[in-house]
Amino acid sequence: MKYSLLSLALAASEAVTAYPFVAEMPDVDSSLFRNARRQQPGGTNPGGAATCPNNPNHVPAPGITAAYPYNGAKNGLPGKGKGGYQVPAPGDTAHQFVAPGPLDIRGPCPGLNTAANHNFLAHDGIVTFNELVDAQQNLYNVGYDLAVLLAVLGLTTTDGDIVTEKLSIGCDATARTSFAPLLTGSEPGLDGHNKFEADTSLTRNDFFLGKGDNYNFNGTLFGMMTQTTGGNYNRDNLALYRYQRYQQSLQDNPNFYFGPLSLLLFGASSFLYELMPSGTKGYAPDYDTISSFFGATKNADGTYSFNNAERIPDNWTNRVTPYTNNDVTAEILAQYLEYPVLFGGATGNGGFNLINFGSSIQNGKLVAKPGTAETACLLYQLVTQSVPSSLNSIVTPTVNALTFALSKFDPSFKNLGCPIPLTK
Ligand code: HEM
Ligand SMILES: *[C@@H]1O[C@H](CO)[C@@H](O)[C@H](O)[C@H]1NC(C)=O
Ligand SMILES: *[C@@H]1O[C@H](CO)[C@@H](O)[C@H](O)[C@H]1NC(C)=O
Repeated sequence: MKYSLLSLALAASEAVTAYPFVAEMPDVDSSLFRNARRQQPGGTNPGGAATCPNNPNHVPAPGITAAYPYNGAKNGLPGKGKGGYQVPAPGDTAHQFVAPGPLDIRGPCPGLNTAANHNFLAHDGIVTFNELVDAQQNLYNVGYDLAVLLAVLGLTTTDGDIVTEKLSIGCDATARTSFAPLLTGSEPGLDGHNKFEADTSLTRNDFFLGKGDNYNFNGTLFGMMTQTTGGNYNRDNLALYRYQRYQQSLQDNPNFYFGPLSLLLFGASSFLYELMPSGTKGYAPDYDTISSFFGATKNADGTYSFNNAERIPDNWTNRVTPYTNNDVTAEILAQYLEYPVLFGGATGNGGFNLINFGSSIQNGKLVAKPGTAETACLLYQLVTQSVPSSLNSIVTPTVNALTFALSKFDPSFKNLGCPIPLTK
C-alpha cells in the first residue's frame, strides 16, 4: 500500500473542505452568493446512497482474450492504438449486449453505460481504473493518454476512490468503492454534481432543474438535440446545440454554474462525432448510430423515450486512429469558438458572476489558444490545479490525489511540458 494512514486521514480532511475563493477572485462579488446552496447529492436524494442499486453479484469485466484481442489493452496499460475493427468481434460472446438489470448502476455517461452493457466494464457499474482505461481503448480506440486522463478525472474529482481505484459510473455506492468510508467521506460516483457532471448536458437535466436528477436520459432534450442537428450530430451542429443548452440554463436555472470542468462537456459532445460513428457507415454521426448509444427510441407521436438499451450498433467498427488528448482539446476549442460563452455562475438575483482559472479562463472567457503548449495542458490542469467547482467553493486536489494523478500520467504529462504541481 502506497499511503500511510496519517496521510490518508489528512487527505480525507482536506477533501471535505470547500474553500471560499471569493476573496481571490477580482470579478466576484461575494455578498451575492453567500447563501448559494451547496449542490451535493446524498442520502435519499436522487443519486444518493439510499436509493443506489446494489448488485450482490459483482463480476469484474472479463477483459480481452487471445481469440478476441481488440486493441490488446489490459491492466491499465497502453494497447496497440490501431482501430477500424468490429466491436463486439463476431463470435465474442463475452462482449455481446446484455441490458442492465434493476440492481445495476448506470449514470450520466452513455459511453460508459454502453461499455458496461457490453461487459467492457463490470456489468453492475462498479468499475476500476484499469477497466476504464482498457475499455476506452479496446472498444472506442480512445488514445491511451486521453483514456488515462478521463479515468483519473473520474476518480479524483472525488467521484471515486484513489486507494481502491474504484468508481461508480452512476449513483453513490461509497460502501463498495471506498477503502474506508469514515476517512474518505461519501464518494458520489459520476452522478455527483459540479464535479465531472455539470449543467447544460446534451440529454441530462441540470441538477437544480431536475430536482437532483442530473443523470437520467431526458427524451425532450434528445429531441431538441436531434431537431437542432437535423440528425447529423457533427461538430458545427452540436456546437450550436450546446449553445442553445447554455442559453436555456442561463434563462431557467437560478443555480446555473458553468465552470472550468464544463470544458469537459464540449469534449463529451465531440465523442458523438469522433468516437461513436461506425466505419460501416462512413463514420457518419447519424441518427441510427447516436440513438443506439443513447438508448433512445422514437415514439409514434414524435417524442423520444429511453429504452434501457444503450448499445453498440450492429456491424459497428471503431475509429481507425486513436482519439488523443490533443484531438479532444482541439475539438473543445473549436466548438467553444463557434459560440463563445462566459464561464461563471448565476447569482440567483439575475446576476452572473465570472470566474478565472489559471491562465486559460480570464474574466469568464476561455483565452487558451489552439495549438499552444499551454492548451495541450488544459485538461491536465483540471486534475492538478484548484478548480472553482461552484461560485462559492473551490476543489483543491489533495496531495494524495495529485500523487495518484501524476503516477498515472507519467510520462505523457511531462512530455507535454505541462507545469508539474508540487506534491509536498
Ligand atoms: C473514464 C472515462 C469517462 C468518464 C469518467 C466519463 C464521465 C462522464 C460524465 C460524468 C458525464 C456527464 C457530463 C455531463 O453531461 O454533465 C459524461 C457525459 C458523456 N460521456 Fe462520458 N466519460 C468517460 C468516457 C466516455 C467515452 C469513452 C465516451 C464515448 C463514447 C463518452 C461519451 C459521453 C457522452 C456522449 C456524454 C454526454 C451525455 C449527455 O450530455 O447527454 N464518455 N461522461
Ligand atoms: C426534460 O427536459 C425538459 C426541458 O428541459 C424539462 O422541461 C422536463 O421537465 C424534463 N423531464 C424530466 C422528466 O425531467
Ligand atoms: C450487418 O451485416 C450483415 C452481414 O453483412 C448484414 O446481413 C446485416 O444486414 C447488417 N446489419 C446492419 C444493421 O447493417
